[in-house]
Order: sequence, then C-alpha cells, then structure tokens
Amino acid sequence: MPGYDLHDYDVVVVGAGGAGLRAAIEAAEQGARTAIVCKSLLGKAHTVMAEGGIAAALANVDPDDNWRVHFRDTMRGGKLMNNWRMAMIHAQEAPERVLELERWGALFDRTPDGRILQRPFGGHRYSRLAHVGDRTGLEMIRTLQQKAVSLGIDVFMETTVTRILSDGRRVAGCLGYRRESGDLIVWRAKAVVLATGGVGKCYKVTSNSWEYTGDGQSLAYWAGAELMDMEFVQFHPTGMVWPPSVAGVLVTEGVRGDGGILLNNKGERFMFNYIPDYFRAETAESIAEADRWYTDKRNNRRPPELLPRDVVARAINSEIKAGRGSPHGGVFLDIASRLPREEIIRRLPSMYHQFLKLADVDITREPMEVGPTMHYIMGGVKVDPDTAATCVPGLYAAGEVAAGLHGANRLGGNSLSDLLVFGRRAGLAAAQYAGSLATIVSPSGDEIEAAAAEMYEPFQRADGENPFALQKELQQTMQDLVGIIRTEEELKEALHRIQDLKERARRVSVPGNQLYNPGWHLAMDLKNLLTVAEAITISALERKESRGAHTRDDYPNEDPEQARFNIVVRRDSDGQPLLVKEPRPELPDEVKKILQEA
Ligand code: FUM
Repeated sequence: MPGYDLHDYDVVVVGAGGAGLRAAIEAAEQGARTAIVCKSLLGKAHTVMAEGGIAAALANVDPDDNWRVHFRDTMRGGKLMNNWRMAMIHAQEAPERVLELERWGALFDRTPDGRILQRPFGGHRYSRLAHVGDRTGLEMIRTLQQKAVSLGIDVFMETTVTRILSDGRRVAGCLGYRRESGDLIVWRAKAVVLATGGVGKCYKVTSNSWEYTGDGQSLAYWAGAELMDMEFVQFHPTGMVWPPSVAGVLVTEGVRGDGGILLNNKGERFMFNYIPDYFRAETAESIAEADRWYTDKRNNRRPPELLPRDVVARAINSEIKAGRGSPHGGVFLDIASRLPREEIIRRLPSMYHQFLKLADVDITREPMEVGPTMHYIMGGVKVDPDTAATCVPGLYAAGEVAAGLHGANRLGGNSLSDLLVFGRRAGLAAAQYAGSLATIVSPSGDEIEAAAAEMYEPFQRADGENPFALQKELQQTMQDLVGIIRTEEELKEALHRIQDLKERARRVSVPGNQLYNPGWHLAMDLKNLLTVAEAITISALERKESRGAHTRDDYPNEDPEQARFNIVVRRDSDGQPLLVKEPRPELPDEVKKILQEA
C-alpha cells in the first residue's frame, strides 16, 4: 500500500460551498481545530447557482412578512413532507443569518430607503429574496470564503474524500486523495461534517457541474447513516436548451421573479392553464384579464410563472410533449417585452451575458429558449433537526446533502438560507461533540488499507469497463426513466439497468497512473453515482403517489396514506440497500395552527 500524509483535526468539513464554509467558520469560532476539504477550487460550488436570492422574512419590501408565513410557505411548497422542526428553525433563523452575512461584508441590492432589497420568487407569498442582481450565491460564497480564510482555517483544495473512517464505534476521520498527484491523505478527526451538495451528475441535463456526484450521500450511506426522501428530485423549470454544449445551465428564477413570462410556440402564456386549485385565485375570462388581476399588487397574488417549481416544470414538460415547444425542445421565456432594456441589464446582468455569449441571444430584445434541468435533490442524509447529526456518532451533514427541510419540493431561495442556518448548526454541534472527546480517535489501520486497495483496483485490471461510458449510460437511464414523470414500468427498467451498471462498475479499468487522471477519478465517483441513483430509483418505486417533485403517471394524485411515512434507505449487512417506510410523527397543534393561518 502507498504511504499517506496524516493530519489531525477536531473537525473536518467535506465540501466548501455555503454549508461547508459556514460549518467550518462556526467550528473554528468555537475553538475547534478545523479543516475544509474540497474537490474543486475554493469558491467553486453549486451555491453560486442559487442566483436569484436568499429567502429570509426580513419584511423589507412586504411589511406583513414574518417567519410564520415563511414557515408556512416552505411547508406548503414541500407538500407537508418537510421535517417541521427544521422548517421552523430555518424560517426563524434565516433573517439573522442574512444580516450576519451583511456584517461580514456581503453587498446586497437596496430599497430606496437603504435596506436590503427583496424580490418575489416561486411559492413565497411575499417578496422575500434578498439578492445581489442575479449573483447572490456568488456574493455569499465570496463573503464566507473571506471570513473562513481570515480565521486561518486549513483548506485542502482539489482533494476528494473517498471514505469516512471509524474506530469501530464512531467516526475517526476520513481518507482521500489529491486530484493532481493522486497522493493519499488520512485526516484523523473527532467529527466530520458532510457538506458536499447534490447528485446532479447522475442525470444528463443538469445545472450541476462535474463535482456533484453524490459523494456525501454515498459516504454517509457506506458509513452506516441513512438516506431519506431520495425520490424527491427537483427539476428547475428553466435551464438553457440551446446550444447543446450548454444544455442544462441554469436560467435563474429571478427572471420570472422580475416579471418574465413563459410562452409556447403559439405565443400563449400557458401557465394560466396549469394553476392547481389551491393556488387559483379567480376564474379569469381571458388570459389578458388574468394577467391584469395577478399583476395588480392589491390582489397580493403572484403570477402563475411563480408557482412552485414542481408545478412549473411539469407544465413546461406538458407543453413540449404536446408539440407546443420551441425549436430546440424547450419553451420561451420572455423578459424583453416586460422590462426596459437597461432595467434587464441592471437586474439580470449574468443572464444577459450568459445568453449573449453562449447562445447569441440578446434577452433584452428576444425571448430565451428554456426547459427543465435537474437542479437539486430534496432527499439526502437523515439528520437530527437541531444538530444536523446523523445516526453515526461524530458524523454530521448540512445543506443539500442533508434531507428534511424541503420535503417533497424546495422553494427557490430556501437553499441559500438552508446552507447558512444548518451549516452553522452543524459546525456548532460538531465542535461541541469534538470538545466532549478527550483524545483523538484513531481509525483502524485495516480499514485504511482496505479503502486504499479499493481505490487502486481500476489500475490492476486490463480491458475492463470504461468509466466514462458507464456514467453516460447511467445519465441517460436516469434522464429517460427517473425524470419528471415516472411510471412503475420505467422505474423497474431503470433499476434493472442500474444493477447491471453496478456489476459492470466492479470491472472498471483505467489506463495510466495516478497523476492527474480524470478516468481514475470518475472510476471512484461511479460508486457514489450508482449508490445514489439506486436509492433514488427504489424510493421512487416505493412512493405510489404524486407529491411535489415526485410525479407518478400511474398514481397521479396525492395519497394521504402515503404521506404518513418517509422512505429511508440504509445499507444492510451484505452492502445492499434496505428500504424502510418510517412513520412520520403527528404535527404538534402549535404547528397545525400556523399552517392554517390565512
Ligand atoms: O433560480 C435560481 O436563482 C435558483 C435558486 C435556488 O435554487 O434556490
């Protein structure tokens, strides 16, 4: 076995997006010796893809807003599958986390009287998204990064973690490798916080970049933690569809938040035909009348383009399937006819440049072509709502990698506040836990050796399977068979193919050596991709209803019986996924009361 560098910390945070940075800052401020390990360069994280804003009931634009309304919107958006305690903590703490970010140097757009400006977003009753044009996630990362660096937190960049280590009873650190040299590193640590983000690279069309291969979900699962709600995968309604090289790149919901409308190839504003009953305000005689009614501020209603993402993504999907799509298989998103040119460039500078540079489209003069793109997973590692602790002592998870807050569908902008609220809580709990252990915990040497051997196996085989080909097959399978609309037959076919891919992944081979070798990196990522793809598919098969982002053509309605349980996947003693339907607790009366408030 090759040698490895050894480092000792109290807390190791895996992932350097918003949740990872916020967790590391908190742990360091609590006095824990803290390190961040990230797969890419510091600052390059999917957090920047939450462009349109961070949701927090600051009530700067709508004085009626408060945490109770934010909580209710989040629970309704999540079709009540949310962990109510997480949703409550989130709504209560989000405003303070935003103000803290501002104290640390984040710049936000301003109201005329100088307060943080907030814009409307899907499913939020009030204008609630604090923003910096359409670059909010970027500003958040910039601020957190600066804060983390100023605290002297050690950062291991371009380094991938492949295994959570244990001493047989609790977490004892983790093992990984430097992507450039292939050199191994062992971090001995009392606590590990997973903040690795999502699983987008299981799908063909996604807003996620190459790093998002389900690493944290898979690391947790193989370490003995549980995955919950994996069937709930969010397709953001608007990604680019053309040219093919940029298909899936995010088009912020901020475009619709600032007045953009969706049109089909007949020029119809089709979203008026897809308003679910409980969102329907008035029966309008005509689309023009409905448009007037919805845009009249006195009626306090959002236009139908700002319905929750699951509703809008399904509507777009239906229009395309019915042959009313745009030339390149999307629909049209028009902001040009809604706002003056200078205003569009001022409010949506990234979108303006993105379309001009990548698609040769001037969004101030013509509509964009957009279609759904896999963006986010609501499911993930099951955690304690207050501490972000998993069931494995010493292992924590926060941000997209964790389950619970968003239920069956996440509202836009709630991801950024999630990262701050639960990143902070995870860092705090991890530091406190580490402080409670007297000495460093030592991982077993055998475990390190076995994990390292598994990593190098692809070099030992000749003429095995090609990791790139396997990933491509997986992405096509998930895109075609475990997408926006699902059926039992297709899910079974997907499962069959994933199991076959798992078999073939055991025979994967890689030429060359460990020096910057992307084939080798992907060979290791495949285990994570296949672990999460299988968990998503078996959970989607089990949930026999349509709820939030999980739509079953063969079970088109919500079924209250099915809402009584969460689907949890854990590893059995043979390393196979074991699916458990876990009963959900009754909502406390206090919570029911808030949900019923008008
Ligand atoms: O559309 C967006 O700006 C994305 C926001 C989010 O995912 O929260």
